[in-house]
This record gives sequence, C-alpha cells and structure tokens, in this order.
Amino acid sequence: MKTMLNVALPKGRLGEKVLAMFEKAGFECPSIHENNRKLIFENPQCGVRYFWVKPSDVAIYVERGAADIGVAGKDILLEYEPDVYELLDLKMGNCRMAVAAQNGFRDDPQRTLRVATKFTNIAGQHYLSKGRDIDIIHLNGSIEIAPILGLSDVIVDIVETGTTLKENDLSVVETIVPISARLIANKSSYKFKSEEIETVVRELAAQTEAV
Ligand code: PRP
Repeated sequence: MKTMLNVALPKGRLGEKVLAMFEKAGFECPSIHENNRKLIFENPQCGVRYFWVKPSDVAIYVERGAADIGVAGKDILLEYEPDVYELLDLKMGNCRMAVAAQNGFRDDPQRTLRVATKFTNIAGQHYLSKGRDIDIIHLNGSIEIAPILGLSDVIVDIVETGTTLKENDLSVVETIVPISARLIANKSSYKFKSEEIETVVRELAAQTEAV
C-alpha cells in the first residue's frame, strides 16, 4: 500500500494549473476530472488525495496537518504567518501587494493615514517599518470603494493587471511586495513523508524552471 499524500489545492484557475502540474509529476487522479461537485478525490495507486479548498484556507489545512502539502499565495503566508515550510516558488499567480489611492492623492504626514485593507498584518508591518501612524480599517472585499467614498485615504490590496484600480480612478502609490503561489508543507508531514514530498518538490521545480 502506497503512502497517501494529502494535497490541498486552491479552488479556481490557479488550482487547475497546479493540479495539471501534479498530474504531470505522476500524481494522476482521473476521478477529479469527472464533472461533479465533490471536493475530495483520491487515487490510491498513485498515493494521492486532493481537496479543493478556498485559496485563503489552504495554509490552515496544511498548518494543522489536515493536508500534508498545498499551494498558497505569498499574500496569505505573509498575512497569517502560518507555521509551515515554504518549499517552492511556483512562479504562478504573479501579482503584487501595493498601496493605492485616488489619482492625484498627496499624503499629509501630519495626519494619521486611514488604510483600508483585507491584509491588516501586512499593512500594519509596512507602515510600522516606515514609522508612519495609521488607522487600519479592516474590510473583506471591494476594498477599492473605500477611498472613493472617503472611508479611507489609501488601500493596501493585491494588484494584478491594474484594471480594477484604473476603472475606479485609483493608482498605485507604492509596491509593498511581489506575490506568487508557493508550495507549502506541514512540518511533521515533511519529516514523515519526506520521500513523497521531495518528489513533488523536484518535479514541480523542474516544471517551473521549464516555463
Ligand atoms: C483582487 C484584488 C483586486 C483585484 C486586482 O481581488 O482585491 O480587487 O484582484 O486585480 P487587477 O489588478 O487584475 O484588476 P480578487 O479578484 O482576487 O478577489 P477579492 O475581491 O475577493 O479580493
């Protein structure tokens, strides 16, 4: 009986690409391609079990060992700082964490800056490192609306193509950090399933370099 490797995949387009990479690496799973709404699929012959989870939840499954490995955005890893190993930059899902504001915005350093974001830890650390006083406003989505309605002065959010900012008359003030998808592993799984996990790292690294 093969050791089963439990893999948390981020639901969505990025996850589909990641699945294709895993399958190419030898961890095939025909049942996952059948059109249904199941969330867990396994192929004992290849020793793999896949779960589709919300992208921002992947790190939780991996940190707690419900999944041995998974793929999570660097944004989530920086924001929640899960206790996992980051094994590989997959160089996919590339975007950046940035500060944005309404076109023509000028920061008045005398005043507390109001920052709307989903990423309060990243935003807090960024402004702490600059010694800038801020008032953080935590939002769950549609962050771009905040400066338009005067709820905040700036936002800290993910920028990919820049279209969302452009269409809302906002522009990037500064880039905080580049973001991409990372292969992560549970710390004890990495010990006990080292052979299987190392195979994944090797195979995915080869595919990443080939791009
Ligand atoms: C992100 C981000 C922006 C958008 C940026 O949202 O919050 O709204 O993508 O992409 P763009 O630069 O290509 O326009 P996402 O769609 O990931 O979902 P969310 O609204 O849940 O954050």
